[in-house]
Amino acid sequence: MRVYLNGAFVDESEARVSFDDRGFLFGDAVYEVIRLYDGRPFRLGAHLARLGRSLAGVWLPALDLRQLEEVVHELAAVEGASIPDALVYIQVSRGASPRNHPFPDPPVPPTVLAWCRPYHALPPDQFLAGIRVVTVPDDRWAKCWIKTVNLLPNVLAKEKARRAGADDAVFVRDGMAIEATSANFFVVRDGAVQTAPVTNYILPGISRQVVLELAEAAGIPVRLEPVVVEDLAQVDEVFLTHTGCGVEPVTTVDGRRLGPAAGPITRRLYDAFEALVRQPESP
Ligand SMILES: Cc1ncc(COP(=O)(O)O)c(C=O)c1O
Repeated sequence: MRVYLNGAFVDESEARVSFDDRGFLFGDAVYEVIRLYDGRPFRLGAHLARLGRSLAGVWLPALDLRQLEEVVHELAAVEGASIPDALVYIQVSRGASPRNHPFPDPPVPPTVLAWCRPYHALPPDQFLAGIRVVTVPDDRWAKCWIKTVNLLPNVLAKEKARRAGADDAVFVRDGMAIEATSANFFVVRDGAVQTAPVTNYILPGISRQVVLELAEAAGIPVRLEPVVVEDLAQVDEVFLTHTGCGVEPVTTVDGRRLGPAAGPITRRLYDAFEALVRQPESP
């Protein structure tokens, strides 16, 4: 596999990052993930714009996003040709410098890494059977809008879910279920979809935005309000959104079974999302 590292495409066996890299030592890095559908990057502009905001959010210098766009297209052309359904990962760290908390002075070049790997989607019937989630306290920091590689709370929450016999965890902050470990969180109640508004406590998901647009186009009412955790006992449907698989049905929440498969509104949004991403002209 060819990967992009600091300005060059190299074989993965030759791609080396220093043990002094601040991404490794401090988690001093941000990242972005882009889905390729039929070999084409979906909503690339929005992902790169978010990467730009993440870089600024941790005081990393701005990168040439046009150049990164070409890198993604190059990876899609080279790796994505044989694996049309794939993910492109981009990570930018503050570079390699002997371990010391303050930023290197003078600054060192950032480490810029990107690769493309296949995305193995489940067969639709299995996928639509939905996943199980559990709620967990949100013990992350207050800048969740930055897509940093500091994912330890997310990793631990995911493991907590796994140990509880579930597939994912939904973070609860101040009594509100706001997002999952790597996805945004939606419920359906009385025919309306509801999800937390964008604040510093969630990642403004690209798929979340797409789903909000699709709901509006379909005439499905939308409420941008966080979900009170006790209300989860009354919601009709639940789903997650993320770059990996778009709209992901949830059929069990904290042990409460909502149904055998995606509910009707989740199913409509799933179908609309799938149709959109398979359109050749989708940006
Ligand atoms: C914490 C968190 N929330 C939400 C999302 C969904 O964002 P997107 O739809 O842009 O993938 C992610 C994706 O990785 C995430 O890590």
